[in-house]
Amino acid sequence: TVNSYKLHNGNHIPALGLGTYRMKTVEQLEPVVTQAIRSGYRLIDTAEVYKNEAALGTILERIFADASYEVQRKDLFITSKLSPQHQGYEKCYQAVIDSLNRLQLDYIDLYLIHWPGTSKTKLSDPRNQENRMASYRALEQLYNEGKVKQIGISNYTKGHLQHLLDHCTIVPHLHQFELHPCLHQPEILDLCKNHNIQIQAYSSLGEGKLIDGTVCINGLKEISSRYQQATTEAVVLLRWAIQHGWAIIPKSTSPQRVQQNATVWDIELSSKDMDLLDDVHKFQTHRFCWDSSEIY
Ligand code: A2P
Repeated sequence: TVNSYKLHNGNHIPALGLGTYRMKTVEQLEPVVTQAIRSGYRLIDTAEVYKNEAALGTILERIFADASYEVQRKDLFITSKLSPQHQGYEKCYQAVIDSLNRLQLDYIDLYLIHWPGTSKTKLSDPRNQENRMASYRALEQLYNEGKVKQIGISNYTKGHLQHLLDHCTIVPHLHQFELHPCLHQPEILDLCKNHNIQIQAYSSLGEGKLIDGTVCINGLKEISSRYQQATTEAVVLLRWAIQHGWAIIPKSTSPQRVQQNATVWDIELSSKDMDLLDDVHKFQTHRFCWDSSEIY
């Protein structure tokens, strides 16, 4: 299908998804989720730690019951992620069952290990490596049982991923990590490419800081002015990822900006502008989210 990427198991993932971090209640989420569906988004990204799976479950139930949306369960792609505190075989297995129940679903399209560590503080815990491998084995089991249709990882460094590849039975279908012109991470990009692991960028807008003036990417304003009037710097950053073949999950609390981000399909960046954005990280490096490179 259009606007989707083929994963190494033959299934497709929508290239554009809606991130939901920091939106918790039905009241906050329903306007943006319903706008996203009406704007053509078919992927919703959540996580145990976002504490909004139950609210999303309620909203999804309403959407499936309302024929005007013209979407059924099979048309949507739902991602959730394992909380670091539930690393380990039994805890991970149960965490997925609990996510399924909160979301009121009988399968989840993609489940990721959210973070390579067992907590955000015990960085050098010697059990981190065996814990995350045990979690991954639970995901492989859930995949074989059909409860999870794709499995993957998030925030892994090259070292974490290489260890996983050396020990897994099922190569992860996807890796989600912070990726934008100011944080390029070529080593991990290459490793994913070599193993057919789909890349999904988070913080494409640097938590908003790449477009609100906090960090000014040289040339971005000029690039966006070269495209059709409605285009914004936000859409240019999203389009840059899409043209690389990376999936994106921009989030917004504003239905209007959710709709704007779906105009990523309306522009095509020239190869010159792609090159300009590709070079930004050589001069401007910024990480806005967690750095997992200290995790054993
Ligand atoms: P808001 O919720 O006020 O729209 P990221 O996905 O990189 O973490 O960025 C998300 C942030 O970017 C949110 O704070 C969101 O703020 C902002 N944002 C999302 N889409 C747009 C847009 N099209 N224009 C401006 N800001 C946006």
